[in-house]
Amino acid sequence: MRQTTMRAAAIDRFGGPEVLRIHSVPVPEPAEGEVLIALDTAGVGSWDAAMRAGWSPTGHTEFPLVLGSDGAGTVAAVGPGVERLREGDQVYAYGFANPKGGFYAEYVVVKEEQAAPIPKNLDLLRAGAIPTTGLTALQGLDDALRIQPGETVLIHGAGGGVGSLAVQFAKLRGARVIATATGEDGVEFVRRLGADEALDGRREDLAAEIRRVAPGGVSNLLALAGGAGLERCLDAMRDGGRLAYPNGVEPEPKPRQGLRVTTYNGEPGVEQFSRLTRAVEEAGLQVPIAAEYPLGDAAKAHERLAAGHVLGKIVLRTRA
Ligand SMILES: NC(=O)c1ccc[n+]([C@@H]2O[C@H](COP(=O)([O-])OP(=O)(O)OC[C@H]3O[C@@H](n4cnc5c(N)ncnc54)[C@H](OP(=O)(O)O)[C@@H]3O)[C@@H](O)[C@H]2O)c1
Repeated sequence: MRQTTMRAAAIDRFGGPEVLRIHSVPVPEPAEGEVLIALDTAGVGSWDAAMRAGWSPTGHTEFPLVLGSDGAGTVAAVGPGVERLREGDQVYAYGFANPKGGFYAEYVVVKEEQAAPIPKNLDLLRAGAIPTTGLTALQGLDDALRIQPGETVLIHGAGGGVGSLAVQFAKLRGARVIATATGEDGVEFVRRLGADEALDGRREDLAAEIRRVAPGGVSNLLALAGGAGLERCLDAMRDGGRLAYPNGVEPEPKPRQGLRVTTYNGEPGVEQFSRLTRAVEEAGLQVPIAAEYPLGDAAKAHERLAAGHVLGKIVLRTRA
């Protein structure tokens, strides 16, 4: 018989990392078209910290709130009408502000199309680290910028969760990649991931540095961090260039004449996941894990997130 309650890292009020505590909550039931996943790994994202502190994407919050928007595990049960996934399948999944509870838990229920078999070259730990960031990186390049082989793309904020994957996907698409990160370790990190040029995005002469490696200016910019560094990247763009950034990048860039801007959200879906899986396998994707914590240390994971300069991604092991 399946267990009816589970451990989850949840909050019963908004606040700092310390409000994240282990709760015992009911295991959600999969309804029609939904799957129950016994989680192995959950991703820890900056948007989780924003929700913990009081941001509500839906406008209302019910406590206890289980945080977490993505992860990976094994399908434990399927609801009526589920056709693509079966009990026992190893899957990765993305459910933002998931109505049946977040991923910082032993189990999660999502719609079937929000989950997909994990890529062949990843284990559950690495697959669980990439659903949100991988979909967001790939859709930024493919759908928002429509990067073509031979084009140059500037990826600003490439040392983080989305950027570390975007560098590799842009190389897979045949682009020349100029990446910015912070600090010597960050610059070295994005170079190792395949960036053709790696620059410290905090340099005051960033625009000149970009123009040094791309003399005509750049036509494509994927921005994963906002502020002065992003404005300097924009100073190095060609007229008529394209800027894409996922919602959440702040402060948002100031409007500029002649710049084509696309803001977007990373979206799950059957086509989106199969494109991601193909790209992960073709790229032989490296998934940098900056730190992993057991579920009971979710507060520590959020403290680490708040300390900043996370190269890659923080994850929780939800079975531990
Ligand atoms: N709407 C959506 O669907 C969606 C989905 C995923 C992510 N997002 C948003 O996308 C953004 C990126 O997400 P993420 O998970 O990749 O966040 P992240 O892991 O925090 O990455 C952001 C990166 O930008 C770097 N950075 C900051 N200032 C910089 C500068 N001047 N030069 C170079 N690098 C700089 C940071 O480095 P340091 O830490 O060293 O400062 C960090 O490595 C966030 O704003 C997030 O909210 C939106």
